[in-house]
Amino acid sequence: MKYVEAGGVRVSAIGVGCWQFGSKDWGYGKEYGETTAVDIVHTALDLGVTLIDTAEAYARGASEAIVGRALTGRRDEAFVATKFTPLSPTASRVVEHGRQSALRLGVDTIDLYQIHWPNPVFPLTPQLDGMRTLLDEGVIAHVGVSNFGADRWAKADAALGQPVLSNQVHFSLLYRKPDTANVPFAQANDRIVIAYSPLEMGVLGGKYSADNPPPGVARSRSPLCLPENLARVEPLLGTLRRIAAAHDATPAQVALAWLIRKPHVVAIPGASSVDQLRHNVAAADLDLTDDEAAELTAESDAFTPIGGVDTGKAMLRRRRT
Ligand SMILES: NC(=O)c1ccc[n+]([C@@H]2O[C@H](COP(=O)([O-])OP(=O)(O)OC[C@H]3O[C@@H](n4cnc5c(N)ncnc54)[C@H](OP(=O)(O)O)[C@@H]3O)[C@@H](O)[C@H]2O)c1
Repeated sequence: MKYVEAGGVRVSAIGVGCWQFGSKDWGYGKEYGETTAVDIVHTALDLGVTLIDTAEAYARGASEAIVGRALTGRRDEAFVATKFTPLSPTASRVVEHGRQSALRLGVDTIDLYQIHWPNPVFPLTPQLDGMRTLLDEGVIAHVGVSNFGADRWAKADAALGQPVLSNQVHFSLLYRKPDTANVPFAQANDRIVIAYSPLEMGVLGGKYSADNPPPGVARSRSPLCLPENLARVEPLLGTLRRIAAAHDATPAQVALAWLIRKPHVVAIPGASSVDQLRHNVAAADLDLTDDEAAELTAESDAFTPIGGVDTGKAMLRRRRT
């Protein structure tokens, strides 16, 4: 496993995304939440993964509870990250929700507590005041944000009165906005960008196509899972497959390796099986050449989705996950 050190912490470059745990939106069934999810976390820890990412919003707390169950007896091996849902975000709600998340996770201290998305209606300062209280009480060890632009990330720093460790953002070969400001900000200020949906909800795994779109409610909301866009992704998938074959790897592994070769960037792919998790973890040991990375970036530049990946409605729904 490769690790990223920044802001005084050391986390695995590949983490585990736990939105899928207990969630009906992905359609993985009961057995997945009860057994497979726990096996995924255990196997990840066995392989040196530390970063486990969940949220109070995922399956209304069930994902946090599953992570808590999986970490029984192994808490010290993990860097546990969860997220506050910023609906009516006052300082006292941040504190109350932080304590509740720690209880569901079965931990004394949450390693990273993130504001899930910026709420444009409510001021930021009270939310960071609540975070400071949680830091002072030892309920959380580090503060993060999610879906923030770099300017707002810097404002969160000022409101907290100390560095906000990380920003968890949508970042993949098909969505490169963080390259513009968030990644340079992290690199210049010793922070971490946590890339979510790094496989574009499975699209970069290469098994879906316009005739075979990914199943499940979660993905039906993503503009990139529309058949028209799945057709437009084909040239990039072709390049991924060719580079993967040269390394005896898979398209998903190449897509992850392309992301985490960027300094200060880690990725948190979700997994529908233990086997996928194993493959994702192995991506940390896949070294792409500069030419291969540049070729993928050029293919990514050439990808033009219909409707845009950033359409207001789609992004609003995604922010809420
Ligand atoms: N902060 C936020 O607003 C936000 C938003 C979204 C997600 N997240 C976080 O980021 C995590 C990851 O994002 P995500 O779950 O949306 O998308 P993702 O990681 O891009 O895709 C996950 C899906 O890709 C498929 N997959 C995984 N590994 C694979 C492999 N090796 N080969 C082929 N297919 C593979 C699996 O689906 P199938 O096998 O069913 O195809 C899996 O469920 C979430 O779990 C969550 O923790 C955060």
